Amino acid sequence: MNRSRNISGIVLCVIVTITWVSYHLLTPGCGKKYEPPPLRWYFNVLNNSIATDYYQQHTTTEFAELLNLTRWPDLSLKELKFTDSTSPKETQYHIINKRDLYKVGETLDVLITTKDHMGRLKTYGGDFFQTKLHSSKKKAGVPGQVKDYGNGSYLATFLLPWSGEAQVNIRLIHSSEAIAVLKDKRDKYPEKVYFNGYFESLGVSEVTECNLKISGKNVCEFNDPAAGEIWQCVRPKTLPCDSWRYHSMGGYRQVTNSLENSFLSGSVTDHNIPSSEPPVNIVQSNSSLTSKLPVCKTNLEPSLPSGYYYEDQWTSLVCLGQHFSKPDDARACLRGRDIYMFGDSTLRQWFEYLEQFIPSLGRIDLHLNYQSGPLLAVDPDYGIVMRWRAHGLPLRTTKTAQISQIGGGPYTVVVITLWAHFTNYPLAVYLQRLVRVCKAVESLSTRSPQTTVLFKSANTGYKTVYGSDWLSLQLDILMRAAFKGMAVTVLDAWDMTSCHYLPDGIHPGPPVIRNEVDLMLSYICPK
Ligand SMILES: *[C@@H]1O[C@H](CO)[C@@H](O)[C@H](O)[C@H]1NC(C)=O
Ligand SMILES: *[C@@H]1O[C@H](CO)[C@@H](O)[C@H](O)[C@H]1NC(C)=O
Ligand SMILES: *[C@@H]1O[C@H](CO)[C@@H](O)[C@H](O)[C@H]1NC(C)=O
Ligand SMILES: *[C@@H]1O[C@H](CO)[C@@H](O)[C@H](O)[C@H]1NC(C)=O
Repeated sequence: MNRSRNISGIVLCVIVTITWVSYHLLTPGCGKKYEPPPLRWYFNVLNNSIATDYYQQHTTTEFAELLNLTRWPDLSLKELKFTDSTSPKETQYHIINKRDLYKVGETLDVLITTKDHMGRLKTYGGDFFQTKLHSSKKKAGVPGQVKDYGNGSYLATFLLPWSGEAQVNIRLIHSSEAIAVLKDKRDKYPEKVYFNGYFESLGVSEVTECNLKISGKNVCEFNDPAAGEIWQCVRPKTLPCDSWRYHSMGGYRQVTNSLENSFLSGSVTDHNIPSSEPPVNIVQSNSSLTSKLPVCKTNLEPSLPSGYYYEDQWTSLVCLGQHFSKPDDARACLRGRDIYMFGDSTLRQWFEYLEQFIPSLGRIDLHLNYQSGPLLAVDPDYGIVMRWRAHGLPLRTTKTAQISQIGGGPYTVVVITLWAHFTNYPLAVYLQRLVRVCKAVESLSTRSPQTTVLFKSANTGYKTVYGSDWLSLQLDILMRAAFKGMAVTVLDAWDMTSCHYLPDGIHPGPPVIRNEVDLMLSYICPK
């Protein structure tokens, strides 16, 4: 890199890992008074909702209010029968006060009436739907907002953003019964996803199980002073703890019985609700949805929905988004920027997109594990430096070394995402990590207010007990609430994935990634 850079300062705003930054930049505050307890604490009680316990023993009201945002109707698992659960085949919906013609900018209301497998009306809420209005001809889509009446009925509301035809689509992702299983397993079995630790010394090697906490075993405890986080591995038989060299995904434990599996089975998960409703017709109106939007910057009011697709282009309803259809436009936007991406593989997709899109942005091979990084790409002529690396453990990855820090410069774009590897733990685990990130970011923006800090939201895709859209959504709610009022922009990948015509997947397809990256660039180079 023949680029003159001021590496002298320790500031190196470069967040090497989220955890690294937390350590170096940590200051009390974060706008709020969150005081996370030691991680150890969360696992003391494995028999009930750890988050609930957390309230009672340690809570500050702010913390409790955050967790309260994730409340979902409670069901007692003991009383459940499969035939009583919500059936995607029997459930129906219809458009309320249907008209022949609608105008752009109006809304459409749809009432969903849930039924069980015997065709009986359900009398309680808690089902998890994803809804969209779409047109395959126009490659258009917009997500709907769902209100749970708590009596078996749900109201889905759609904005009508384009003229022409639009078809309602309602998907039952999980029944309320399945949600009860997800919630129970999330809180009771934090070790359902486990990891391997590789210990090596003088030609001897051993592999043991690792996690945030290993219960009931003699362990090696790795205290990350940087993060205040603890990582534990079962103590190897012969080797010392400090011979720990590598980390990898271990496996998934079966934590559900056959009844619970039936609630989560493919025959009832992620199914369209059948309907005979024909498409609605929408005509142009004089009202423009985007004429009054501000340029993209931090602290903008969120919008529901956050945007819509038309001809496969995402139009943000939060701010004036741009499309960078030519590599030169994206390159010009990124000129002189140091971009630090920290997160998971869904953020790595952004790195990969830009690397492929901008020919002059070339990869420097650091000979490190691709799944954890760091990955580095530079455009020497334009002074663009772009990095991606995985967030700290837990991380479901192939064998990877624990990596130390890298350096960088003070004028930066920091892009973070943090969720997919936390879905299987109690919410409090995520909260704790989030609070640390939040404090680090706050401190970073105090030191270096020009820094653009972007947080990519969760996207849809998972549908199992180890990771599910519902579990992701819960984390996302916490993330959005924690960053509210801070100089952090949340990029809404959720809406962008939930209403696209491509099938849901944890790694969204190329048109979605292009639109996500365009939105990111819109914030980096507002116009
Ligand atoms: C579950 O946890 C509570 C404390 O929250 C404790 O009083 C109770 O004995 C525990 N039950 C079992 C079965 O471990
Ligand atoms: C949680 O939310 C409910 C409903 O919004 C409210 O009634 C309750 O007081 C809240 N609890 C806490 C601890 O904030
Ligand atoms: C549930 O409540 C809503 C709103 O009060 C109402 O419109 C709907 O008809 C109710 N559904 C049933 C099945 O009673
Ligand atoms: C839109 O505005 C034009 C004049 O500016 C007017 O003639 C037309 O009737 C308006 N259309 C609607 C649907 O309001």
